[in-house]
Amino acid sequence: MAGMNREIRSYVLRRGRMTSLQRRSLTTLRGSYCIPFSEERLDLAQLFPDHREVILEIGFGMGDATAQIAADRSSQGFLGVEVFEAGVGKLLSEIKRRELCNVRIIVHDACEVLRAMIPDGSLAGVHIFFPDPWPKNRHHKRRLIQPPFVRLVAEKLKRGGYLCVVTDWDDYAEQILAVLGAEPLLANRYDGYAQSQGWRPETSFERKGRKDSHLIREVYFVRRDV
Ligand SMILES: C[S@@+](CC[C@H](N)C(=O)[O-])C[C@H]1O[C@@H](n2cnc3c(N)ncnc32)[C@H](O)[C@@H]1O
Repeated sequence: MAGMNREIRSYVLRRGRMTSLQRRSLTTLRGSYCIPFSEERLDLAQLFPDHREVILEIGFGMGDATAQIAADRSSQGFLGVEVFEAGVGKLLSEIKRRELCNVRIIVHDACEVLRAMIPDGSLAGVHIFFPDPWPKNRHHKRRLIQPPFVRLVAEKLKRGGYLCVVTDWDDYAEQILAVLGAEPLLANRYDGYAQSQGWRPETSFERKGRKDSHLIREVYFVRRDV
């Protein structure tokens, strides 16, 4: 992970108020569905014995998309990584409400999780929906989508595995397209931005972006056969 400065975090820990359901879900369900961060590689086959394909979602927020996609694709396992505890509580409550058997969560910095826990060539897909835009120029270095991070993600994908990133922030969209386009392990499935992926449900940050009349842009790249 040369070049990735881990002193610079791509998030600030939001303290947002937790509902009593979110808090209760965190207390009672964490042990069943959350995996503690560890420096050891995960055994994905052991974690998802009934699911041959595993999709990683980075920064799931309140987990709207995670829960819906996991419900729609019961044959795949979903590993969600998030640091926002209210969101983790919300997703845990949805896992329980929808009786989802194919979702696990890691509450930790996704860059560290990728580096330490995810085996190379193991993921069928990676979802990054509305990464924090860090709009001020002096904060651009905190943006998640940077070349060393994208290289790391690409290394974790299986051949043919996909990386789907969506943003409502114009100059971040350009940066994402350029950075992914410059990564030799990835190939763009589209000519420039992707068409809207029908399987992707609207998230709360997407709703906010649309309300502010922001254009939603998606990119969809696949791991090359190299
Ligand atoms: C703008 S929100 C989008 C949330 C959700 N994907 C949506 O579309 O509503 C970005 C989320 O990414 C999380 N995040 C940012 N950097 C992260 C990192 N390095 N590891 C884990 N989560 C991260 C933040 O905590 C935040 O909840």
